[in-house]
Amino acid sequence: MDVKAVIFDLDGVICFTDKFHYRAWKALADRLGIYFDEKINDRLRGVSRMASLEIILERSDKEYTQEEKEAFAEEKNNTYRELLKTMSPADLTDEVKNTLVELRNRGYKLGIGSSSKNTKFILERIGLGDFFDAIADGTDITHSKPDPEVFLIAAKKLGMEPTDCAVVEDAKAGIEAAKAGNMTALALFGDAKGCGLEDYDLKSFSDLLNIL
Ligand code: BG6
Ligand code: MG
Repeated sequence: MDVKAVIFDLDGVICFTDKFHYRAWKALADRLGIYFDEKINDRLRGVSRMASLEIILERSDKEYTQEEKEAFAEEKNNTYRELLKTMSPADLTDEVKNTLVELRNRGYKLGIGSSSKNTKFILERIGLGDFFDAIADGTDITHSKPDPEVFLIAAKKLGMEPTDCAVVEDAKAGIEAAKAGNMTALALFGDAKGCGLEDYDLKSFSDLLNIL
């Protein structure tokens, strides 16, 4: 595969924070009496906090004001941040760590392209605060995945052309974003794998070392 840089999604790819997103949304949905399950949660992968809330509220028969919605999003984020505080470098698996180090040794530029506004906090918690060559996250963008904006910003920060970049994603929305941005799309877990738009399905994170 002829790429010079790899841009990683964060939640559900570098670490298991996708599970924390689910638990925090589930707590809010339960409090509001709204049905929510793992399958609905798959649709939240890669999309912004407010867009995620709108998907959850599809199951509600009540109409909420913008102010109420903002309070719900903040409530979810507070629950989520409490869960993030429990994370430490022990939450970065050896497989992910060793693969990242080996990719760097092979000369690849490594970046993050995440819709999350908590990206830097999470990277610090798991001991990767200074690791990546570039980070594009929810604080840099106006459109979340499937818009390619976050990946295009990451490529630019890496000094790369989009066609030189491969993206690793667990979200179908992220695979769509990578393809819309003219990048190679590698699917790992989630609803990305087998979605039909990806260039390659990764068997595991370390499978990157076989194809790059
Ligand atoms: C993405 C997650 O990485 O970040 C989404 O896959 C989430 O589920 C989005 O909604 C925004 O995250 P945050 O941390 O800014 O609420
Ligand atoms: Mg993800």
